[in-house]
Amino acid sequence: MSNAVLSAKNGVDILLGLQWGDEGKGKIVDVLTRKYDVVARFQGGPNAGHTLEFNGIKHVLHTIPSGIFHANALNIIGNGVVVDPVIFCKEIDKLIALEPHCLSRLEISRKAHLILPTHRLLDAASEAAKGKNKIGSTLKGIGPTYMDKTGRNGLRIGDIELPDFMERYQALKDKHMHLLGSYEPPFDLADAEMEWMRSIDRLRKMVLADTDISIQEAYKSGKRILAEGAQGTLLDVDFGTYPFVTSSTTTAAGACTGLGVAPNRIGEVYGIFKAYCTRVGSGPFPTELDNDLGQEIRDKGHEYGSTTGRPRRTGWLDLPALRYAVEVNGVTQLMMMKADVLSGLKNLEVCTAYMYRGEKITHLPYSLEADLLDPCYTTMPGWDEDLTGIHDVTKIPAALEAYTKFIEQETGVPVVLISVGPDREQTLWRA
Ligand code: GDP
Ligand code: IMO
Ligand code: MG
Repeated sequence: MSNAVLSAKNGVDILLGLQWGDEGKGKIVDVLTRKYDVVARFQGGPNAGHTLEFNGIKHVLHTIPSGIFHANALNIIGNGVVVDPVIFCKEIDKLIALEPHCLSRLEISRKAHLILPTHRLLDAASEAAKGKNKIGSTLKGIGPTYMDKTGRNGLRIGDIELPDFMERYQALKDKHMHLLGSYEPPFDLADAEMEWMRSIDRLRKMVLADTDISIQEAYKSGKRILAEGAQGTLLDVDFGTYPFVTSSTTTAAGACTGLGVAPNRIGEVYGIFKAYCTRVGSGPFPTELDNDLGQEIRDKGHEYGSTTGRPRRTGWLDLPALRYAVEVNGVTQLMMMKADVLSGLKNLEVCTAYMYRGEKITHLPYSLEADLLDPCYTTMPGWDEDLTGIHDVTKIPAALEAYTKFIEQETGVPVVLISVGPDREQTLWRA
């Protein structure tokens, strides 16, 4: 791993996605963790699926930070995360088989909010009511849980330690049942509640902590901290393709509010992007390839959701969107994923501008809806070589180097890493 790149100064570095999620964040957090003492998830919940591959093992994490496979790192689930205790306990069970001591290096914020079974019902009811305008939610209860958080109704992890927890649970459930009215639940609520309560009992025995304070103390004692984002910038509730977004702040600012870190303590911001684009769920996607080529990229890149198994929509790299993401997050280092998937394409199209209401623009407009906006492409030569066995960045094809330099020139930020396969080892450092 390059030392020039990862000087890991005293501070909190952030790693986040610059597109519509699934950029490969899990893989890179795992690769970077040996340089860090603390890895902390700052938002999202079990809508996320972060995949790690090493030593022939493939593992998908939903709530647990992707640094968990490294014995020396403390992993923190921050206050900005929403936790479904059932999914979380299932994750722990799978993990313990591989990492028997993982619980000793995991802290869960008391301020993180709980996803109730009725939050999942509300999510399903809301999507059903939207009909053809549905968001394509993962239906994990994310939106309703964040709504209860900002509406000041939510239940937090710390509440499970209080004597009146059951009354609080019942009061929130009653509120939800009132909202649901005659909605027919798609799963058995009584069964789901029983499993949920059993998982709450297990959670009580885990390390519940004031993680904002743990992180502040780690910072003051010179520990190196990595904040792990979920989803991607274009799914951010403020800056994404609203309303087709998730319900949290997926951008760099979310690391401050989701962990209790002051902005002046942020160091590097690693921005992860795919060499092309994908999106799962509904919403505008200007460079989408809704054709055979799109299917070819989906097949080669195994573009099927890590959480829901849904096929991901695929398309060309979108530079106006990438530039916007770089600015919103203050990205200092770019990391390009899945370059290997593009091998064998004669030419690559890169979107450099849009025609928007009859005018050529190079920024991201208010609306990305297809009837208002047409992408303008620059054609670049592709490469034939299989990249997956390359271990030395100087051996990459000239066309890939040119593609990478073009992205650097267009964004003004160095691309420090090119990923050429899902495994930890298939990682090429350029700096
Ligand atoms: P995340 O949500 O950002 O962590 O990304 P996901 O894990 O949902 O999706 C990324 C997928 O691409 C996973 O299946 C990874 O194993 C895989 N992956 C990551 N990097 C590469 C790469 O460079 N090449 C290929 N072919 N696959 C990759
Ligand atoms: P990671 O962390 C890709 C998408 C859903 C849907 C929208 C809202 O693995 O990159 P939600 O369940 O939050 O109500 O869904 O956001 N979405 C993701 N897409 N990767 C994710 O996470 C996602 N998390 C949510 O498909 O379009
Ligand atoms: Mg994912």
